[in-house]
Amino acid sequence: MNRRLSILREIGLAPLWRSRQSVPAPAPHVEATSEHAKAPRSAGASAPVGPMTAGNGARRQASTALPARPVAPAVVTAADRPVIDVRNAGWDTLEQAIRSCTACRLHERRTLAVPGVGDRKAEWLFVGEGPGAEEDLRGEPFVGQAGKLLDAMLAALGVARGRGVYIANSVKCRPPGNRTPESDEIACCQPYLERQIELLRPRIIVALGRPAAQSLLGGEIKIAAARGRTFDRQGIPVVVTYHPAYLLRNPSDKAKAWEDLCFARDVLSGA
Ligand code: URA
Ligand code: SF4
Repeated sequence: MNRRLSILREIGLAPLWRSRQSVPAPAPHVEATSEHAKAPRSAGASAPVGPMTAGNGARRQASTALPARPVAPAVVTAADRPVIDVRNAGWDTLEQAIRSCTACRLHERRTLAVPGVGDRKAEWLFVGEGPGAEEDLRGEPFVGQAGKLLDAMLAALGVARGRGVYIANSVKCRPPGNRTPESDEIACCQPYLERQIELLRPRIIVALGRPAAQSLLGGEIKIAAARGRTFDRQGIPVVVTYHPAYLLRNPSDKAKAWEDLCFARDVLSGA
């Protein structure tokens, strides 16, 4: 048995290893406007919606030249609202800024902030919710139980953390007790994810669960309704699926998640 099939068996998905041939119905198109020149967006902001076909956002955008001026990765307090300015930060500076960030209340109880991990030239970006207990201790995303499932899914797609994929979260610090991050926390942390996307320029983004979709698309997204569509985020297609932690609690939905990943793979390959 090849490795991919054995991984699929392990996660209970083997019978679903198939490519979706048909292009799904025209999808809503959410254009998340670039907010990086401004204060963090308000998470509830609505975005224009319009059709987008499944493959047309998959082309890599032209690279934007980075200005040569020095980087000031700062958390600046403007009036009563912290503003994160990492517009010009390179990877290392960005990670440093995240590790020392105190812009929202989540910094108070974290052990380590969790910037993200993976291949900085990846075509795939996976975005989760926020660090859990183990991630908080190790400073790396998805290293607990949910991470094992995510790794199995990545392996079935033929990628791995550090090879073809980058993994990040909607908030970089653990919400106490693993609660869902609040909208204002997601909005506050959003410039970091924004900059990660700018630096990475992935060809596809997979949002794992609602907070990730909220951070990426700027509005309240229901996973069940958003599955099987592509959302456009400044020319990069975003596909939405269930969070691995949810799948551990609801294993019967693993098959749907696998369909979503196959869909994402098809979008990436321009199917
Ligand atoms: N769940 C997430 O959303 N992110 C992690 O990094 C770990 C678990
Ligand atoms: Fe800063 Fe994000 Fe951590 Fe809040 S969650 S303190 S914004 S890094």
